[in-house]
Amino acid sequence: MQYSLPPAGERVIIRRHPSPDEYLRTLFGTRRPMFYKSGTMALAAALQVARERRAVADPQAIIPAYGCPDLVSAAEYAGIRPVMVDLAEQRPWLDLAQVERQINDRTVALVGVHLFGIPERGAQLRRLAEAGDLLYIEDAAQSYPYARQQRDWAGHFTVLSFGRGKPVTILGGGAVLSEDAELFARLPIPDGYPLVEAWSRPLKWRSYNFLRAPARYRWLRAMPFLRLGETHYRPLRGDWSGISPDARAVLAGNLANYQNASLQRQQWLAEMAAQFQSRGVLDVAAACGIMGAALGALSRYPLLLPSPQVRDALLARINETCGGGSPMYPAPLPEILPPMVGGTTEAGFPHATDWSRRLVTLPLHDGVTLDIVQHIGRLLAMVLDSDNSCIDDEYDGVRGRHG
Ligand SMILES: Cc1ncc(COP(=O)(O)O)c(C=O)c1O
Repeated sequence: MQYSLPPAGERVIIRRHPSPDEYLRTLFGTRRPMFYKSGTMALAAALQVARERRAVADPQAIIPAYGCPDLVSAAEYAGIRPVMVDLAEQRPWLDLAQVERQINDRTVALVGVHLFGIPERGAQLRRLAEAGDLLYIEDAAQSYPYARQQRDWAGHFTVLSFGRGKPVTILGGGAVLSEDAELFARLPIPDGYPLVEAWSRPLKWRSYNFLRAPARYRWLRAMPFLRLGETHYRPLRGDWSGISPDARAVLAGNLANYQNASLQRQQWLAEMAAQFQSRGVLDVAAACGIMGAALGALSRYPLLLPSPQVRDALLARINETCGGGSPMYPAPLPEILPPMVGGTTEAGFPHATDWSRRLVTLPLHDGVTLDIVQHIGRLLAMVLDSDNSCIDDEYDGVRGRHG
């Protein structure tokens, strides 16, 4: 292996916007932003407002059972018990029937996640939330919309992350947006920012940009102690804090730059995936109505493969050659959490389990070329062929034995 692509994340453009605060104030249209030190803290802030708005004993929030453990860390920090709900079949969306079953008079928030950047069904979820007098919190940590998509935000609160691996990154930071002045005014106000962050960030940006280059990233991947790409539960700690003015200036520059990003790579991957539809490969974005470049940017390109064996074989081949493939979350959320954490669950999460076994995500960042997409297409054809030939061999064996 000569090189290895990272699975997600653009480079940080280290250029400061000349008037970041004005730019950030106008960027989100009618929604006002409050910035925090991470997406997890931003989500916790929104959840805390939901909890304080309805003073109930044992407050609960509904979250998807397949997703980032930071959802649980945020809920815990906000003093809320997470209640996990399965995903819908073959869609990265909440199972609405289960959501309805789980809403009760202790539920204060419903959290919908734009997994891989694929929008949740905002209007529907918001209606469900309002019917139960709870807040719909839209976790858009994995997506950053182009200007034309901003209309699609539907949450009472929308949460963004600017952490590593996100479409727009400054290696840490998050925001909560709201167009409801009353709700916005209830958000906890960050008490400054970690001082160490102010001087260490520029160094981090430079080393991250240097190390994410495919020729160097392969060395990082080869270091097991870095545990790159692994999913772990990390409790959120510390006081409410924000991001430094310098980081905000760089953030504004990166957000401005992203508005001109190209959807070409997404288009290439959609075209490649379409060739395998008849062989049981589900292009998740296309199945959710995102056709090629038509509906905006994803952070990773998700495919559901016909079986866990095909998924594992494809991942192994991708990561032995060009890198950039990821299985995302290795199990449903309750299985990732330490035993004493953990929220309420319905028994079993068949769809979340299925996602954790059959999903592969392909990279979409600026290191992806048409050559790489074609190479991944050839690997996919190869693993599907060899999977069929295993089945054929077994079938031949059975035929041999039984006439
Ligand atoms: C859906 C989702 N929500 C929240 C977060 C937390 O964001 P951060 O890493 O900025 O704390 C993540 C991080 O990956 C995420 O994927």
